[in-house]
Amino acid sequence: MNKRVAVLTSGGDAPGMNAAVRAAVRTGIHYGHEMYGVQRGFAGLIAGEISPLSARDVGGISQLAGTFLGSARSVEFTTSAGQEEAVRQLQALDIESVIVIGGNGSQQGAHVLSKAGLRVTGIASTIDNDLTGSDITIGVDTALNIALEAIDRLRVTASSHHRGLLVEVMGRRCGYLALMAGLAGGAEAIVIPEREVNPETIADLLRSASSRGKKCAIIVVAEGARNNAQRLTQYFQTSHPSPGFELRATTLGHVQRGGTPTAFDRLLATRLGVGAMESLVEGNHGVLTGWIDGRVQWTPLSEVVSKTKELDLRLLDMAGMLSK
Ligand code: F6P
Repeated sequence: MNKRVAVLTSGGDAPGMNAAVRAAVRTGIHYGHEMYGVQRGFAGLIAGEISPLSARDVGGISQLAGTFLGSARSVEFTTSAGQEEAVRQLQALDIESVIVIGGNGSQQGAHVLSKAGLRVTGIASTIDNDLTGSDITIGVDTALNIALEAIDRLRVTASSHHRGLLVEVMGRRCGYLALMAGLAGGAEAIVIPEREVNPETIADLLRSASSRGKKCAIIVVAEGARNNAQRLTQYFQTSHPSPGFELRATTLGHVQRGGTPTAFDRLLATRLGVGAMESLVEGNHGVLTGWIDGRVQWTPLSEVVSKTKELDLRLLDMAGMLSK
């Protein structure tokens, strides 16, 4: 194995990505490797935006959200021409190893590079927490704390006005963020794609909460649910009888991605960054570096890209019980 390693961040940025880059780069340098940074994820790889990274280049970035390497969702990399060009760009610089920091789509890309003969390890990083091979992914804790702070604030104003507040959180097709934010924020209802509910059921929950003397109601909705905030708002605008609360909706959107990474995310990112680089040093590649059962573990990329992560729906029942 030669000693050149490229690091890239891909897909939606996640707080803690920078800490992962720093850890991987400095670990690589420690073991005598030459480290390179790729700008703009797979799009930058295809365009040859690859340059050396020194220990100094990755100084002072752990506390910063986003990714200083830049990120992208590359349509070109989904084509065989794009993939061949990406491999050619790496070969031109004699780079044989790649660290891919990102979520589901990014690890699909990592798997492609691995099958093309490169030594690849992924690092589990997405605010959606929908990736097989890591119990928790980089960025989730920060995003969850942002959502929770918003819910706490919304509960204050909802309570003053006897309102119901629909709060839509990110997560793509996964309800993890909504479920956890709803459970931690004491939501009166949680709507996630893994267990769809009808608007009528939500209306019943709200009427019941109002009749039990609640001053407000928080409904946390995952963006990927069939009845997202927009659909529920449309329903309640025309539905009769009243759900017992006047309703308002707030969509948190990208604000969840831009927070200063929490201590948890920085530590997770640091440990996964070190773990990813050490796996390459030991000749273990074609894997995702993730956090399983309280320690760094490696899962074959073939498994990561072919399995769907399950959500623990007992937590949804628990939230329902506690909302009474
Ligand atoms: O995958 C992370 C995520 O923030 C999802 O929760 C969301 O659906 C998506 O990215 C938004 O993507 P974009 O930033 O490209 O609009």
